[in-house]
Amino acid sequence: MHLFLFNIFIILLVLNYVYANLNTLTWAESYTKAKRIVSHMSIEQKVAVVSGTGYKNGLCAGNSGSTTNPYYPSLCLQDSPNGIRLADDVTAGVAGINAAASFDKAAIRARGEYLGKEFRGKGVHVQLGPTLNLLRIPEGGRNWESGGEDPYLIGVLAEETVIGVQSQGVIAMAKHYILNEQELHRNKTSSQIDDRTLHEIYLWPFARAVEAGIGSVMCSYNKINGVYACENDYTLNTILKGQLGFKGFVCSDWIATMSTVNAANNGLDMNMPGQISLTDPGYYFGQNLTDAVRNNQVPEARLTDMAVRVIAARYKMKQDKFYPEVAVSSFQRDKAPKVDVQADHKKLVREMGAASNVLLRNKNNILPLNPMELRSVSIVGSDAGPHPGGRYCEDTECLGGALGWGSGTVKFPYYIDPLQGLRNAFGKDVQVLSSLDDWNLKQAAEVSSKTDYAIVFASANSGEEIFVYQDNFGDRNNISLWNNGDNLIKAVADVNKNTIVVIHSVGPVLMPWINHPNIKAILWPGLPGQESGNSLADIMTGKVNPSGRLPYTIAEERQDYVATPVKDFIIDYSEKLLLGYKWFDFNSIEPLFPFGYGLSYTKFEYSNFNLNSRIQSGYKNGKLIVSNVIVTASVIIENVGGYSGAEVLQVYISFPENCGEPPKSLRHFEKIFVRKGGHVQYEFSLKKKELSIWDTEYKEWVIPSGEYVIHVGASSRDIRYSTKFNILSY
Ligand SMILES: *[C@@H]1O[C@H](CO)[C@@H](O)[C@H](O)[C@H]1NC(C)=O
Ligand SMILES: *[C@@H]1O[C@H](CO)[C@@H](O)[C@H](O)[C@H]1NC(C)=O
Ligand SMILES: *[C@@H]1O[C@H](CO)[C@@H](O)[C@H](O)[C@H]1NC(C)=O
Repeated sequence: MHLFLFNIFIILLVLNYVYANLNTLTWAESYTKAKRIVSHMSIEQKVAVVSGTGYKNGLCAGNSGSTTNPYYPSLCLQDSPNGIRLADDVTAGVAGINAAASFDKAAIRARGEYLGKEFRGKGVHVQLGPTLNLLRIPEGGRNWESGGEDPYLIGVLAEETVIGVQSQGVIAMAKHYILNEQELHRNKTSSQIDDRTLHEIYLWPFARAVEAGIGSVMCSYNKINGVYACENDYTLNTILKGQLGFKGFVCSDWIATMSTVNAANNGLDMNMPGQISLTDPGYYFGQNLTDAVRNNQVPEARLTDMAVRVIAARYKMKQDKFYPEVAVSSFQRDKAPKVDVQADHKKLVREMGAASNVLLRNKNNILPLNPMELRSVSIVGSDAGPHPGGRYCEDTECLGGALGWGSGTVKFPYYIDPLQGLRNAFGKDVQVLSSLDDWNLKQAAEVSSKTDYAIVFASANSGEEIFVYQDNFGDRNNISLWNNGDNLIKAVADVNKNTIVVIHSVGPVLMPWINHPNIKAILWPGLPGQESGNSLADIMTGKVNPSGRLPYTIAEERQDYVATPVKDFIIDYSEKLLLGYKWFDFNSIEPLFPFGYGLSYTKFEYSNFNLNSRIQSGYKNGKLIVSNVIVTASVIIENVGGYSGAEVLQVYISFPENCGEPPKSLRHFEKIFVRKGGHVQYEFSLKKKELSIWDTEYKEWVIPSGEYVIHVGASSRDIRYSTKFNILSY
């Protein structure tokens, strides 16, 4: 080989070694390697691998122990699902709920990849994310970290995120396993649930994460049917490691471990961050675990399995080949080596912010606004402005506009607020008046009455239980807008007939002003992150055609939702399978805006729907078991409006009537770009997984026989085709 070329070849090899980790090892390969090293470890060494070294006793949120002979390093575990928490020079991108609202698999994957690059760049071995709990109560404090009310949608979020993050060699950690849908009293509550609901709704996203090869799962604070999640033999051993075949390690949420022997024997593999509690300096693992193994209370084989699982996850991501030095210092930020991992990720953040913005209303096609024709506009509400304190607060408790608090947060490197973003986009020829005081309704009205258009902003916030914000213990106390939002919107709409409402919210809010005739447009940008104002401007000016869809139902009244937060310690999942739109469908409740809803500046028409199904079935235990079904279908989507843009095709299934399933369940979706005047023929298929239900008697996924209906449409309440097909016993 030519010497010069050879050099390049070497450089490429090295670069490849250092930066691209694109293929992870199989679990079998990883186990072989892990077993080999663990076979040389003493009990104490194995215990070190699976024990946290103590809260604030290290650079990261959690640090595992290390060993010297054989060598095994300490792992750095760091928040959050949305970016690197408690670190500088990182990207604060869109939240999980926005990733879901994009309904865009490729974008979710790209988000996972950039997150993985940043965690890796900072030397973090394990990312504490994605969050995969469901939006069961609209008040749920951490709903915004996850993907909404539908298990299938969160399942896609799980799969694409895990593949993206782990492609960079970072171990992802699916959390909070399981049934941690409420923050209040989270370490005392018991989530009471039946087996079928547990599998079909709450386990589904975790199952997709396991299929995607996730390296770790975080057990939650709460109990499940009376047993703590981190010492729950049924959910950890029977379901996660048994039924799902999870090969990685189970790690406790921070101070969610409640015992030594029970936890270890019932499936916990790693204890974090170490201490029993913030006030009890003892450790459940460490010396206690060593003693328990020596006393035969925990079999040594079990300890070996724990260590193998942790070490195998590290091998699987090839972290033994090369891994950057830890460059976060969570508790002494100024001590962290300066490593800037932002690259050009802000571009993706801006795109995702726009792609996840849901256009709820657009009367008379008031949007997009053309800056060339626009003369004057008012921008009203503190949510449109910069940070109230003019600085970026720890854990974003005091952020206005950029929402969410607790361990799901990322420190903003900068923040393009809506006012700034819109001003830039409108240009200097447009007169922009603003009033950012939410309580000064007189001023808001005065300003709004002087301009052709008025854009009024309001928000609602929530977070993690550990921080209390305006009397909200994580979960929201109500689902109304904060900071006088309803009055502000009304004050503006009363004086300006071209009122546009923009709501940044962690979840659904009530809209008592919805029928105000002057409110012509409503935009729902969720939690778009550092590029908030730019993403919003891209949508408002038509640079980007809206294509976000609601990942949850927005109800007219609070009582329309089935589940409510509980103040005592029993959370009864008595609605069973009827969560979110399934409840609304079942009870024929008209939502204000349904799940999957979102407008575009253009219009899409569906035609030529075709369906085929191929079925292979047989009997097992005297019961018809359909071993394989492939339902394939195709549909033509035509863009008949004036703008190029993307449609989100949604496929719902109605199971045979006697199955006890909800009226319909999302089982496929795709974001499809169609240029103006063009059309796309889209083909898709549903396989066994999407057509199965959990059989509690046989403890397996089965395809029920009978008559199914496949619904294809633009939202859960905008079905364009419904066609029957049969899977029959014979
Ligand atoms: C639950 O969490 C609170 C607040 O962090 C803590 O004070 C309490 O000890 C915990 N209770 C249990 C049972 O761990
Ligand atoms: C072992 O666990 C107990 C609680 O079960 C705790 O009180 C004690 O401090 C622990 N010991 C060590 C050495 O951490
Ligand atoms: C809802 O909660 C927010 C935040 O605590 C509060 O500011 C607002 O006044 C509450 N709204 C209602 C209608 O109770």
